[in-house]
Amino acid sequence: MTVRRYLIAGNWKMHCRQSDGAALAADLAARVGPVADPRFDLLLCPPATIVATISQAVSGSAVSVGGQDCHAQAQGAHTGDIAADMLADVGAGWVIVGHSERRTNHAESNAMVRGKAAAVLRAGLATIVCVGETEAERDAGQAEQVVAAQLKGSIPDGAAATNTVIAYEPVWAIGTGRTPTLADIAAMHAMIRARLSGLVADPDAVRILYGGSVKPSNAAEILGLPDVDGALVGGASLKADDFWAIAQACP
Ligand code: 13P
Repeated sequence: MTVRRYLIAGNWKMHCRQSDGAALAADLAARVGPVADPRFDLLLCPPATIVATISQAVSGSAVSVGGQDCHAQAQGAHTGDIAADMLADVGAGWVIVGHSERRTNHAESNAMVRGKAAAVLRAGLATIVCVGETEAERDAGQAEQVVAAQLKGSIPDGAAATNTVIAYEPVWAIGTGRTPTLADIAAMHAMIRARLSGLVADPDAVRILYGGSVKPSNAAEILGLPDVDGALVGGASLKADDFWAIAQACP
């Protein structure tokens, strides 16, 4: 049986200035210490402006740092954009791509997400590829079909467990306090695992995170489900006690 370490990732979105971000990161780094807990890896994804600061704040600890988005090109005339290599240059080891807020607010297609994920891998970093259905799609019975198409369209060549994590985030569960039933989460994660074969070299070893209103009170039951290998946490990752409680809920 493949053993997958949990990954507990905080997506800070457009929150935190330098000083409060550094204090939050330093608090978590002190809790983790220099050697990762045998159960989980901890990852912080702050806004790009403070990736360097946060990297310094966690240095010497086992906490990792990532970006929330990048451009598909390595450099060029792309005003306002950031290359994966630039995030690496200031201490990031990871980049989230295809978050639903990017897919919706910036009209990112599967092909664009795939291009960004490929750029992350070319820069030598690991990527978290986000997928998830809208409420209308779930109500129409299309959730699995939508997520399957996102996986097929967004996962780049060369993806493997060492460089790629999938995050299932139902759009209607993000920031709403609502979550799917445990049975629905388990069914979707099992479907994702099955669909990964042919898309990644080692589907059994790839970590599949759940995201969408994860909090200390529901973390244990969600993280206890088969094929749930961690969490991508928004709101609750902005409070050290809450984020730490979620990590501590790893079985
Ligand atoms: P919340 O945890 O705030 O629902 O956000 C989830 C999310 O979008 C993480 O990427």
